Amino acid sequence: MSELIRFGVSMEQRLLSSFDEFIARHGFHNRSEAIRDLVREKLSREEGVKTDRVMGSITIIYNHHVRKVSETLTEIQHQFQGHILFTNHVHITHDYCLEVVVVHGPEKRLRELAILIGGQRGVFMALPSFFTFDVGKEDHPGAAFGQGDTRNHH
Ligand code: NI
Repeated sequence: MSELIRFGVSMEQRLLSSFDEFIARHGFHNRSEAIRDLVREKLSREEGVKTDRVMGSITIIYNHHVRKVSETLTEIQHQFQGHILFTNHVHITHDYCLEVVVVHGPEKRLRELAILIGGQRGVFMALPSFFTFDVGKEDHPGAAFGQGDTRNHH
């Protein structure tokens, strides 16, 4: 077993009380064990490729004055057209646009799309929100996973 590193964690009293109740309900031996478990779970959701059947959206905020950004985003979306159901565009301020791209397909591929968009000049953020569905229960969304943002400040 690798060496354990101790570090301090600050938390509001109410959050800590809820966490202690969670620890009691789930039978963890102590807070450290519970925190390790939660961190592992979060990281595996973040990085794991769970299924080929993911659906959700990528919310993009970008500055349309940045040269070529609109053309670039359109170009990228055409490259992924098989995974895009529709895109909505809202002009939110004089400078900024918000686009919601509704997507489906393998999580790995959709995550590549979000990272590609998030890395473009002029893109303030590209926030993916993906969901999976239980096989055989198509009407009922499963637990949300894969949430997290790919921020990029230019
Ligand atoms: Ni706009």
